[in-house]
Amino acid sequence: MVKEKRDIVPYRGSQKQAKVVTISGSKGGIGKTFFAVNFAVELKKRGYRVLIIDADINLSNVGLFLNIDEESSFTEFLEKRVRMQDVIQKGVGGIDAVYAGNDFETILTLGEEQLERIREGLGQIESNYDYIVIDTQAGLNRLNLGLILSSDRNILVTNPEITALVDLYKVIKLASQKKRGLLFEIVVNKTSGPQEATRVYQKISQTVSQFGIKTGLAFLGYIVEDSKRVIESIQKRVPIVVLHESGAIRECFRLITNLFLKDVQKRKRRGFLYGLLGR
Ligand SMILES: Nc1ncnc2c1ncn2[C@@H]1O[C@H](COP(=O)(O)OP(=O)(O)O)[C@@H](O)[C@H]1O
Ligand SMILES: [Mg+2]
Repeated sequence: MVKEKRDIVPYRGSQKQAKVVTISGSKGGIGKTFFAVNFAVELKKRGYRVLIIDADINLSNVGLFLNIDEESSFTEFLEKRVRMQDVIQKGVGGIDAVYAGNDFETILTLGEEQLERIREGLGQIESNYDYIVIDTQAGLNRLNLGLILSSDRNILVTNPEITALVDLYKVIKLASQKKRGLLFEIVVNKTSGPQEATRVYQKISQTVSQFGIKTGLAFLGYIVEDSKRVIESIQKRVPIVVLHESGAIRECFRLITNLFLKDVQKRKRRGFLYGLLGR
C-alpha cells in the first residue's frame, strides 16, 4: 500500500493564481512525461496545490503513470458539454490531473473558438492551484508553441543523445524567434550523473550562443537513468517519488524541485492565457 501524504502536508502556496509550467523538449521518448509527473507530485508533496495537464494527444501516458482514467473527455469540454472542473481527476499521490484525450483531429485543428474555451476553462480553475504543470507532445505544433510562449516557466527535458540535443536547439531557436526574453530551464534526463549532465548543459549553452540565439538558459538539474525503478513504477502505476522515499532518482527530483522553488527572480506574469490565444 502506498502511503498518501496529502492530508498531512501543510498548505504552502501563497500565490493567488497558478504559475503555468510547461514541460517540453523535442523528440519522444526522452522522458518528458516521466519528468512532468514526478516533478508535479514532488511539488504536491511539498504542500503546493498542483494540477497536471496532459497535452500530449499523440502519445499520451500521464494516465499510465498516475493511474487515471483515460476516457475522460477533453473534447466534451471543448464542445462546451462539460466544465473544466468536470474533467479534473484525482491521480496517485493525490494529484489533480486533466487528460486531454487522444482526439488528434480536434487538437491539431484547434481554432480561435477552442483556444478561447481553453482560456476560459483555465481562468476558472487557476486560482485553485499554485502550479499547473503541462506535459506536451514531441514536436512543435501551434498548441505546443502557444504553451511555451505563454507559460510562466519553461522546462526543457533532454538527454545526452545527439538527436535529442539537435531537436532541442530547434525548439529553443523557434520559440526565441517568436518571443524575446524567454528563459529555458534545462533538465538532463537518462544520464550517468552530474558530470555528464553538466557537460551536456555546457554543450547546449555553447551551441545556443554559437548560433546567435538570444535566449536565457539555466541548468535546473539531472536525472540518472534507472530502468529497474522506472519500470517498477510504471508497472505499479505509482510515480517513483511516491514509491521511493530515498534512492538516486528521488534525490534528483528533490534537488531539481529545490532549485526550481529557489528561483526568486520575479517574472512578470505576462498573461499566460492571452499568450495562448496568440494575442
Ligand atoms: N531516468 C530514466 N531512467 C530510465 N527510464 C526512463 C527514465 N526517464 C524516462 N524513462 C523511460 O523512457 C520512456 C519514455 O519516457 P516518456 O516520459 O514517456 O518520454 P516522452 O514523454 O518524452 O515521450 C518511458 O518508458 C520511461 O519510463
Ligand atoms: Mg510524453
